[in-house]
Amino acid sequence: LAKVMRVLVTGAAGFIGSHIAETMRAAGHDVRGLDSLTPAVHNGRPDYVTGELVVADVRDPAAVNEALAGMDAVCHQAAMVGLGVDLSDLPAYADVNVTGTAVLLEAMGRHGIPRLVFASSMVAYGEGAYDCATHGRVRPSPRHPADLAAGRFEPRCPSCAQPLTTTTVGEEVPLDPRNAYAASKVAQEHLSASWARLTGGAAVGLRYHNVYGPRMPRDTPYSGVAAIFRSCLENGVPPRVFEDGGQRRDFVHVRDVAQANLLALEAVDRAVTDSDGHTDPDGHTGAEAGGLRCYNVASGEPHTVGEMASTLAAGFGDIEPVVTGEFRLGDVRHIVASPDRAARDLGFRAQIRFAEGIAEFAHAPLREPATLTGARS
Ligand code: UD1
Repeated sequence: LAKVMRVLVTGAAGFIGSHIAETMRAAGHDVRGLDSLTPAVHNGRPDYVTGELVVADVRDPAAVNEALAGMDAVCHQAAMVGLGVDLSDLPAYADVNVTGTAVLLEAMGRHGIPRLVFASSMVAYGEGAYDCATHGRVRPSPRHPADLAAGRFEPRCPSCAQPLTTTTVGEEVPLDPRNAYAASKVAQEHLSASWARLTGGAAVGLRYHNVYGPRMPRDTPYSGVAAIFRSCLENGVPPRVFEDGGQRRDFVHVRDVAQANLLALEAVDRAVTDSDGHTDPDGHTGAEAGGLRCYNVASGEPHTVGEMASTLAAGFGDIEPVVTGEFRLGDVRHIVASPDRAARDLGFRAQIRFAEGIAEFAHAPLREPATLTGARS
């Protein structure tokens, strides 16, 4: 039996954090939740949050210091999510996600807590991985607004402008964050690596792909596409599929994401335990086993946004999605992940298949929006 750890889960009242808290408790760990229950997101403590919950902001050093007392590990999920609306969101992404993480890491260092798992995102990659028939693996630059407006959605080879084929993105590619949220996630990775170097701690960053499932927040400008489509369908309105609907994503179920966090917690514990120069089962020395490792958390079963819309709509009878040709400048075209590293190092393999998970999601409870507008977490 794996050892029992006392784990602080930040963002424990949120969509992903609440599932993680449940999964970790079910595995026998002793979980303390921390969540600001920010009024822009929550109408008080949600019914689904059970167990200990400290109501505090992760940017508050005194509150974080208190919440960390007696903890063995931290699972950091508190963040402002989504693509944002416009430039005015920039300071909030930096403040909540970057400052919040820095405050937490500093306090963990003082408490001598050496185990960290945190939520990163596939948006850290920018565009996914592409091959050109002539130039091999290439990195297309952001798509030009004029191309998008003309319906040319596929990125082209930066050298010869030929069409590209997509392939799976592995963790080793250079990061290329293309919006404020993505930049804040990359900053969290770098801060965690710095913390690990300074303290000798072990950190795992989980690059979530498109997470969906019960308790996903309802339609807000900060919601993922699955929740937006689900809200449309419930209201009898056809989901609006942007671009030509051919953009590919990896939709991963929130219970699988929670399981990945549990396995990552066990992995950081092994790294810390092995760091006295013992050799871990993979043959790494302790020093290599510590530090920061990042993993895609994905189903390994990519689908287009158009397919997601029609599969979800099938759960609602006769509403057909509409493909609108609209586009958002911060959006990337295809991100399809390799789940191999997480399978190899963490033993993580998603269990919930797309058809099954989306069918459940069609009627799963969503989190009600707060009464205030401009939801943020
Ligand atoms: C999403 C999350 C991001 C998270 C990442 C990985 C949001 C807004 N984005 O990124 O925070 O880090 O997953 O978990 O939560 N689309 C439509 N119609 C709509 C809305 C969107 O067709 O009404 C399309 C978009 O153009 C895009 C795709 O759906 O092509 C996915 O959009 P979205 O879920 O917003 O963002 P991701 O970039 O995939």
